Amino acid sequence: MPGEQPKLSNLVKLNTNENPYGPSPKVLAAIRAEVADGLKLYPDPNSDQLKSSIANYHGLTPAHVFVGNGSDEVLAHAFQALLKHEKPLLFPDITYSFYPVYCRLYGIEYETVALTDSFEIQVSDYLRPNGGIIFPNPNAPTGRLLGLAEIEQLLQTNTESVVVIDEAYIDFGGESAARLVQQYPQLLVVHTLSKSRSLAGLRVGYALGHPELIEALIRVKDSFNSYPLDRLAMAGAVAAMEDREYFEETRRKVIASRTWLIEQMQEMQFEVLPSGANFIFARHARKGGAEIALKLRERSIIVRHFSNPSRIAPYLRITIGTDVQCQALAAALRDISQGASV
Ligand SMILES: Cc1ncc(COP(=O)(O)O)c(C=O)c1O
Repeated sequence: MPGEQPKLSNLVKLNTNENPYGPSPKVLAAIRAEVADGLKLYPDPNSDQLKSSIANYHGLTPAHVFVGNGSDEVLAHAFQALLKHEKPLLFPDITYSFYPVYCRLYGIEYETVALTDSFEIQVSDYLRPNGGIIFPNPNAPTGRLLGLAEIEQLLQTNTESVVVIDEAYIDFGGESAARLVQQYPQLLVVHTLSKSRSLAGLRVGYALGHPELIEALIRVKDSFNSYPLDRLAMAGAVAAMEDREYFEETRRKVIASRTWLIEQMQEMQFEVLPSGANFIFARHARKGGAEIALKLRERSIIVRHFSNPSRIAPYLRITIGTDVQCQALAAALRDISQGASV
């Protein structure tokens, strides 16, 4: 579910895991050029140029690539085209909130698999009859990362159903399963340009998988909307995939700020889960998540609090902002954590 997008100015907005840095200047230039030139014409319904850029980035071929209007749309098509079977789809009990929504929309049976006490995905828990498996890596909202060796272990044992790894946040510290795509025909890896490429507003996501999986996605997409990516989105996305320097620079900055913020919060008696994402999941030794979120909001800082399930109610999910935003957050948390509880 989308997080809140308040209309107030002067907010420190750390609630929806956007990148605090703008997109690459080359992306903006590419979009401007496209505005000047192409809008009277329909876009390429096959997105050939973008698929080539993505394939090139991951060392795959365009036949391994599916693109869509944000990874939410890519996921929606994957649920409909690949994950509806008699046996239940499996995903973690604490995970991206859209998964059960898509299951209900498409009438897909599902079962949730509990995370461990330390909020980790244990792949051996997924070795049971299933019609498919999906989880984010790193998981959301916990930020916990699963190693590629464990994902490979799952793929070696779970050979009969599709395994979707939603890598929305993988660029902030993890190793992508994209390099397993050619080896495991049941693997679909989903990426977005919303996070590590600062393009949440452009709505571009993609999936990497065996050409047969990709063809199934294309069939659903073509029955729904032949032109999900407009010309501006494609021009910007190609430039984003090609500007590796800017990508490396911004993700390094986000990772450095994450390290700094975690250290600050640990000093204030927060327990912070290890994060491989552009957000952290943390709870205070004495104060509740709802209370801290409210007090931050009074100081114009917005973070995300989930009251369901109750196991995560003590926690806050905090997006990594710019240095100035992280400093403002740390100062506010210091103030709040020293005050009396409500
Ligand atoms: C785990 C996960 N997957 C997918 C998405 C969807 O991203 P988008 O539709 O912007 O590509 C999000 C967005 O927050 C997410 O957290």
